[in-house]
Amino acid sequence: MEEEINSHLSADRIQSMLRTDRWIIHYMESVDSTNNWARQEAEGGAPGGSVYLADTQTAGKGSRGRSWGSPEGTSISMSLVLRPEIEISRISMITLVMGLGAADGIRDVTGIDTGIKWPNDVVCRGKKLCGILTEMGPNGDYLVPGIGINVNMDRFSQDLRDKATSVFLETGRKCDRDRIAAGILESFGRYYDVFLETGDLTGLMDRYQAILANRGRKVRVMNQSNPYSGTALGIDRFGELLVKREDTGTTEKVFAGEVSVRGIYGYV
Ligand code: BTN
Repeated sequence: MEEEINSHLSADRIQSMLRTDRWIIHYMESVDSTNNWARQEAEGGAPGGSVYLADTQTAGKGSRGRSWGSPEGTSISMSLVLRPEIEISRISMITLVMGLGAADGIRDVTGIDTGIKWPNDVVCRGKKLCGILTEMGPNGDYLVPGIGINVNMDRFSQDLRDKATSVFLETGRKCDRDRIAAGILESFGRYYDVFLETGDLTGLMDRYQAILANRGRKVRVMNQSNPYSGTALGIDRFGELLVKREDTGTTEKVFAGEVSVRGIYGYV
């Protein structure tokens, strides 16, 4: 028999599924953007560990100024407030930690063979399942990683069909969104603690490399002044992507956020 699927996310249900009380979940049925909401609350003093969750967003933000669609009842939009006590230069690595947490959280709950397209898109069979937009407060006072997960969509528009997928499209089953949100928070929490021990990805690199979908693939580094092609080799402990250039044979380090990296033979 099919599991009954709630039409709304529930902060109380998610909270009761968690084995930790480090996350305090706030819910709204609809909001412009959970990242905006989380940032406003962070500005007002919300503590690290506050989570802002919505069934739908009316102005969801994607990376590079794009918009992000969060259809009601089928997606998860969730933003966290974090206040890590680390150097500002290390903060951007947390977005990779979030990618890892999301990939493993989704895998644990749904059984999907998730991967990561560097730095933090969660993918399955070369298509995007989940996107992450991380925003930072002034002077790095707080950090807001916001995550959008395609859960129960049964189709995508023509322009997204080749690039996007959902848990439903991968498993053929509608999935309880509360369980996925809880799974991601559990798994991110574990990885975040490992990250904080060293302030870099030393303790997470093996896991990250193991599911890095770009590994060994041809990529194009969209460096504005000097774009180049090469093979993605893996990451270093700072989360930089190591790319062996085709033209010079040298290995370059690509810093997340600086440039985009595109797959040459597809999205990954
Ligand atoms: C991307 O383009 O891949 C990033 C997408 C990030 C979307 C999420 S949904 C929750 C949070 N709120 C937003 O407005 N954006 C992020």
